[in-house]
Amino acid sequence: MDYNIFSIKDHVVAVTGGCGGIGSGISEGLAALGAKVAILDRDADKVGTVAGAIAEKTGSEVRGYAADITDEESVRDAFRQIFEDFGSVDGLINCAGITHVAPLSEMPMDRWQSVMDVNLKGTVICSKVAGKYMYESGGGSIVNISSLAATHGKPGYTAYTPSKAAVNGFTFTLATEWARLGINVNSISPVLVVTAINRDKIESDPTYLDNVLSTIPNGKLCSAETLVGPIAFLLSEAGSYVTGQNIGCDGGCQNGDIAVIKPYTSM
Ligand SMILES: NC(=O)c1ccc[n+]([C@@H]2O[C@H](COP(=O)([O-])OP(=O)(O)OC[C@H]3O[C@@H](n4cnc5c(N)ncnc54)[C@H](O)[C@@H]3O)[C@@H](O)[C@H]2O)c1
Repeated sequence: MDYNIFSIKDHVVAVTGGCGGIGSGISEGLAALGAKVAILDRDADKVGTVAGAIAEKTGSEVRGYAADITDEESVRDAFRQIFEDFGSVDGLINCAGITHVAPLSEMPMDRWQSVMDVNLKGTVICSKVAGKYMYESGGGSIVNISSLAATHGKPGYTAYTPSKAAVNGFTFTLATEWARLGINVNSISPVLVVTAINRDKIESDPTYLDNVLSTIPNGKLCSAETLVGPIAFLLSEAGSYVTGQNIGCDGGCQNGDIAVIKPYTSM
């Protein structure tokens, strides 16, 4: 008897922002677990190359689609093509995201709006479009890549934090709306992962990474690889009763306050 409730083999999973640091790692991890992966990214030059490289490395079917997730028509075109190429859409990982960190007094409103447009509106559009194909495919699972920042404010984050807090609110709401359609909606909140999104900050402050590490209870940096397991679980039969949740993947940050509590480093 084949009883592998954790399997995502042959699930068709779309990953937005799939050319980025986290998105490409998630795409590779899911493909290595046997999923068929559709990578969506606005980086039209890179999307085919990244998909091709992951396909070669994992042996899975991986295709790239150029799309701007803030543009509903562009997303519709991409999913029409994905459905035609793969025959179903079983999973969506809303991973594309941007940030602009600045004091509010110096925050250009167009940059603030762009963060909202990509992180929130883009997640809403992709869910709206992909949801229809998931319904036609017999159900599905949406995983929004949120952030620890959604629930933890810090100076400079007046665009990013509200955008991710809204992603969590969208997650909780859509989960109730689509629960009886067989479409689960959850979010995963990572802590810092070193990628292009934070490269400037890391390069301009040599103490930045050590400072971040000192606030993570398990003392380890997050990575795309650490996100693959929780995401695969939410895409699989094993996670079928889990919906409307925001799951921290953060070494213990979400419900702990290491700034106040010193962790033990030996027994
Ligand atoms: N890196 C971190 O520390 C961290 C921590 C928590 C959450 N996150 C979240 O993880 C996700 C991925 O971040 P990352 O660190 O890999 O960033 P990244 O900059 O490496 O990748 C982001 C990707 O999104 C794509 N993208 C941006 N706007 C787009 C649009 N309009 N349409 C289509 N694609 C678009 C970019 O081309 C890029 O490939 C984001 O949602 C981010 O907020 C990141």
